[in-house]
This record gives sequence, C-alpha cells and structure tokens, in this order.
Amino acid sequence: KPRLFSGMQPSANSLQIGNYIGALLQWKDLQTDYDAVFCIVDLHALTVPQDPALLRENTRRTAAQYIAAGIDPAESTLFVQSHVAAHPELAWVLNTITGFGEASRMTQFKDKSARQGSDGATVGLFAYPMLMAADILLYDAVAVPVGDDQRQHVELTRDLAGRFNSRFGETFVVPEAVILKETARIYDLQEPTAKMSKSASSESGVVWMMDEPSVTAKKIRSAVTDDGREVRFDRGEKPGVANLLTIYSVLAGKTIAELEAEYTGRGYGDLKKDLAEVVVETFGPIRARTLELLDDPAELDRVLAGNAARAATIADATLAKVYDRVGLLPRV
Ligand code: TYM
Repeated sequence: KPRLFSGMQPSANSLQIGNYIGALLQWKDLQTDYDAVFCIVDLHALTVPQDPALLRENTRRTAAQYIAAGIDPAESTLFVQSHVAAHPELAWVLNTITGFGEASRMTQFKDKSARQGSDGATVGLFAYPMLMAADILLYDAVAVPVGDDQRQHVELTRDLAGRFNSRFGETFVVPEAVILKETARIYDLQEPTAKMSKSASSESGVVWMMDEPSVTAKKIRSAVTDDGREVRFDRGEKPGVANLLTIYSVLAGKTIAELEAEYTGRGYGDLKKDLAEVVVETFGPIRARTLELLDDPAELDRVLAGNAARAATIADATLAKVYDRVGLLPRV
C-alpha cells in the first residue's frame, strides 16, 4: 500500500469541527487504502507558550479523540512526535538547506509571529515548517491529506525534498498534498470569513468536539447568517449560510443541492435547528468514547508506545540514509 502521512497539534481540551471535517474524516476514509501514519505533533506545539501539565494531558486527549473518531491504531500508525527522535534530527538537516528568506515567506509564520510580537516569536516558530517537512519525509509518504491552511508547508516540503535529492542523490519521495476542495476550510460561526481555529478570538464561533450537546446546539443556533432568509450556497453573498451548508452536507452525507431543495421556503432557523441535531448526533458517540478511553490512560499510553516503535523503525532507516548522504561519520 502507498504510504500516507498527516499530523495535528494537540489541542487544548478538544479538537474543533474544522479539524474533524478538514482532516479526521478524510484520514478515516483513506486509512484503508493507504499505509497511514498519523502523528500528534507535540514538538510543534512547543512553538507557542504551553503549560507543561496541560500539554501532556492534551496530547493524550487528542490521541483519544482521534481513536474515538475512527482512526484505528491497529491498522494505522498513530503516535506522538516526541517519541521518535528522528523528527527533530532530520529537521536540523533540513534547516541547513532552507533559505532564510524562504522560511520568512511562510504565511503561517508571518501571521503567528505578528500575533506574538517580535520578541514573543521564537526561532522554534520560524523553524516550524522544516520540522513539518521532516515529519513527512521520514516516512516516504506519497500523500499528505491536510486542510487548505497547510498547503504552503507541503509545497515547502516538496521543494526541500527535491533540493536534497538533487544535491545529495535520490533520497526522499516528493509528496503530494491531498486537499479536498469542498471541506478544505471550515469557517468561524461568528465570523464566517475567517478560518475556524483553536486560537479564535471568540469561543462562541468555534464548535468543539468535546462540548456538551447543549453548548454545541446553542453555538449553531446563534451562528451568524445574513439579513435574507433564502437558504442558498453563495460563498460571496452568504458566507455564514454557505459554511453551515458545508458542515451539514459533510456530516449528513447529502449534497448541497439536496439541502438547498430541502430548505426551499424555510428559513435559517430551521436549517440551524436541524444542523445542530446532526452535529450533536455525530459528536455524541465520539465524545462518550473519548471519555471512556481517557479513563484508562495507561492503556492509551501503551498503544501510543507500540505505535511509536513501529514509526521509529521506518523513520530511523530514513534518517540513517540522510546522515550518510550528507557525510556524517557513523557511530560504530
Ligand atoms: P493543525 O493541528 O492546525 O490542524 C490539523 C488539521 O486540521 C486542518 N484544519 C482545518 N481544516 C478545515 N477547516 C478548518 N477550519 C481547519 N482547521 C484546521 C489542518 O489543515 C490540518 O490538516 N502544521 C500542522 C500539523 C502538522 C502536519 C505535519 C500536517 C505537523 N506536521 C505533517 C501534515 C503533515 C497543523 O498545525 O495542523
């Protein structure tokens, strides 16, 4: 089977519906056709300030949510980035072939460093994309399923792989980003032109997988729409409604056209009420299963350790090849 790699940051308390639709659902579908490797990127999380105890807990919680949502740790390799030392080791080598200007052009770095202020932004944040490239390249992944916001990082990964190969000889597989157009971007419910994100300014626009059903329903019912009342998919004129229709369509397995027909002559209120039910029904069982898995952290840690060992077998072989190609003296 061809290899696939993707990663996600451990998030405070819960994943949001954008992670679920943009990443998780795709991963779940792809894991049968690919030899899938999924990584919880705790080293990436360190690029912004973290509370140590919370980071540890969130890493477990994130793993539990992925398993609860259908990533099978027996079929796929689901592991924690810091458990496989080859990741930061390869990142170092990639840092040495990345241009300073090239890394400075990463839009996510520009956004995040602007938010942190020039003293708050760290060298770690700057080096983030090269660690991500290392994640992908260690596994000879051909496919990298991500949301639209990660496209530029995957492009950089391709450039670095090509550059390394031409300087040191064929070593890396050049990966392709897999981005599903319709679901590549889920927007904030209160600000439907901004990407839904863990770091959103207001809580009420973000639907968390682990929210209580009543909280989820309330957030969806109070999502921003526009003055009209016609339920129609129009990203420019009706970004709020378009976002709700996207979420609805994916979770209910109906096309946008079917939904538009279903809500002809009915208002936004009905759409939101029904969508709230669909979301609650989707996340209810995932939430319950997550809590169950978290009841036995030792077992969860054992599964992650086993998967990390499997990942390390692949990653260490790639790293050894890289060290050899660039001329590092082997330790005998
Ligand atoms: P992260 O943790 O921010 O997000 C995980 C995945 O969720 C997608 N996503 C969204 N998709 C649609 N709509 C949204 N509103 C939305 N918000 C997030 C992201 O695109 C991502 O696919 N740098 C990565 C993690 C990473 C990685 C990797 C990914 C590290 N190494 C190697 C792929 C391969 C990140 O911060 O994702």
